[in-house]
Amino acid sequence: CGIVGYVGAQSAQDVVVAGLKRLEYRGYDSAGVAVLADGGLAAARKAGKLLNLEKELKDRPLPGGNTGIGHTRWATHGGPTDANAHPHLDNAGRVAVVHNGIIENFAGLREELAGRGHDLTSETDTEVVAHLLAEAYSSSGDPAEAMRQVCRQLEGAFTLVAVHADEPDVVVGARRNSPLVVGVGEGEMFLASDVAAFIAHTRDAIELGQDQVVELRREGVTVTGFDGRPADVREYHVDWDASAAEKGGYASFMLKEIADQPKAVADTLLGRIDGSGALHLDEVRIPPSVLREVDKVVVVACGTAFHAGMIAKYAIEHWTRLPCETELASEFRYRDPILDQRTLVVAISQSGETMDTLMAVRHAREQGAKVLAICNTNESTIPRESDAVLYTHAGPEVAVASTKAFLTQLVACYLVALYLGQVRGTKWGDEIRTVVRQLSEMSGAVERVLGTMEPVRELARSLASHDTVLFVGRHVGYPVAMEGALKLKELAYMHAEGFAAGELKHGPIALIDEGLPVVVIAPSPRGRSVLHDKIVSNIQEIRARGARTVVIAEEGDEEVVPYADHLIRIPATPTLLQPLVATVPLQVFACELATARGNEVDQPRNLAKSVTVE
Ligand code: G6P
Repeated sequence: CGIVGYVGAQSAQDVVVAGLKRLEYRGYDSAGVAVLADGGLAAARKAGKLLNLEKELKDRPLPGGNTGIGHTRWATHGGPTDANAHPHLDNAGRVAVVHNGIIENFAGLREELAGRGHDLTSETDTEVVAHLLAEAYSSSGDPAEAMRQVCRQLEGAFTLVAVHADEPDVVVGARRNSPLVVGVGEGEMFLASDVAAFIAHTRDAIELGQDQVVELRREGVTVTGFDGRPADVREYHVDWDASAAEKGGYASFMLKEIADQPKAVADTLLGRIDGSGALHLDEVRIPPSVLREVDKVVVVACGTAFHAGMIAKYAIEHWTRLPCETELASEFRYRDPILDQRTLVVAISQSGETMDTLMAVRHAREQGAKVLAICNTNESTIPRESDAVLYTHAGPEVAVASTKAFLTQLVACYLVALYLGQVRGTKWGDEIRTVVRQLSEMSGAVERVLGTMEPVRELARSLASHDTVLFVGRHVGYPVAMEGALKLKELAYMHAEGFAAGELKHGPIALIDEGLPVVVIAPSPRGRSVLHDKIVSNIQEIRARGARTVVIAEEGDEEVVPYADHLIRIPATPTLLQPLVATVPLQVFACELATARGNEVDQPRNLAKSVTVE
């Protein structure tokens, strides 16, 4: 969910709604605002996209006020209805609160409140907080103290922002787990889940730590722990501006982000390779001596980042000869994995706040493992809680389906693999320098792919009425196939599956029917050509069962031509780097197919970009 708070001289409603627009990627099944005005509190809430709330505010404007809060929701407790939308108010309508997370002990608290005469009207866990805050404020008369008292009673994950009608110039917030950032302006203060919400007003920010409460007034902020003790705060400057979070003339953020990829790839390499082809990752604050002792690598991530992690396994094992496992973060800690001081855990996350990944990081560190985060969001929770971080420099990614962040995650994974190889000295020493050079040419290769996408778009449109598309690949082409399928599920709401091509004959081949589109990612015919021979056989098997084959193959690969109903060319690259170019047509394919089906690509149904619940 996305949260915004404001206190200052501007219209709170305008600032809050504009902020929510920037946060809509975090959830968009309902939205609401509350403002303090004329000694009272006024609120509006609406199910559906933010647009519905904006319409409501136009028809029935709230009174003008300079203090307010807002929320855009991804439903957990209770369906996306007007009544379940945030903010939630107490019975007297004096307190309004918005919440991100899940309050695990809400049922008990709700019963206690009902016993004390409170009348709770929604199905959400959040409403409980509004009532508790009202009680706590009536005894302490201090909004921050009331917030601290309530937080001490709550279990689970919660980030809260609240206002009280008796305190017209105060917004209070509390953070456990999902992020909360203060925007420091002149005579005005902002509070939000992400700096994007206030970047148009200020680039100076303070990230709240775990279990902290903040009180915002026009002239300053006070941060304490839940226990009331003053907390240290560190202000930082955001290094991108509002224009980076705009569509820049594209029809969707996704199209813009696909087009941004050559730059994102180049930016992620910038300053990390010297003239001799050696890597400098001094920012990875794990000393080489520790990295030399590592005897196992475990990669954890979710969704698209997990697919980057699957590719990392091939690269890490090949270049470092260290055993590497890649695991879904949501499965990792529950199977009691074997970890110790010699294990390096690599956690990949665009947002840096995915709860499943964060929990995996915490578990790994508890077991003594070293954690290196690969992350796109400065100062976010996962890097803050890791031993070290390698930032991807994709810039803000707004579309829910990840594109440029994925490519930069791949680059970062290659860098980590090559760096480990460099530090540890493997028999691939020379190969490493060569690959580093080849990696620096990949931005241009991605650019070339982007220039040849018109036939892919045409193909996508021609397949818009199909129900199923399968994707197959071998080696690193296998995770690429999974990523291609995920993109299509997320955007086109089609049944799409990615398989290891060798597994087809062990089951999935039964799915193949006359005319079923199957996308095949063919490995390079050079180098490990045995892989290529195998895939050529697989394409023939698929085609013999009537499938319509779409083959993604390197320029100059003539062997696949007779078996390809549609051929998509990508530049020749070293095998391990191929995902950087092979994924791009699949992103374009899914985006175009979804558009042809009338779907909105930036905000697919039921999804959210940052999932801050487990
Ligand atoms: C959500 C998004 C996915 C994303 C995944 C992991 O499910 O919808 O697109 O890949 O989270 O996100 P992260 O921020 O950790 O990379």
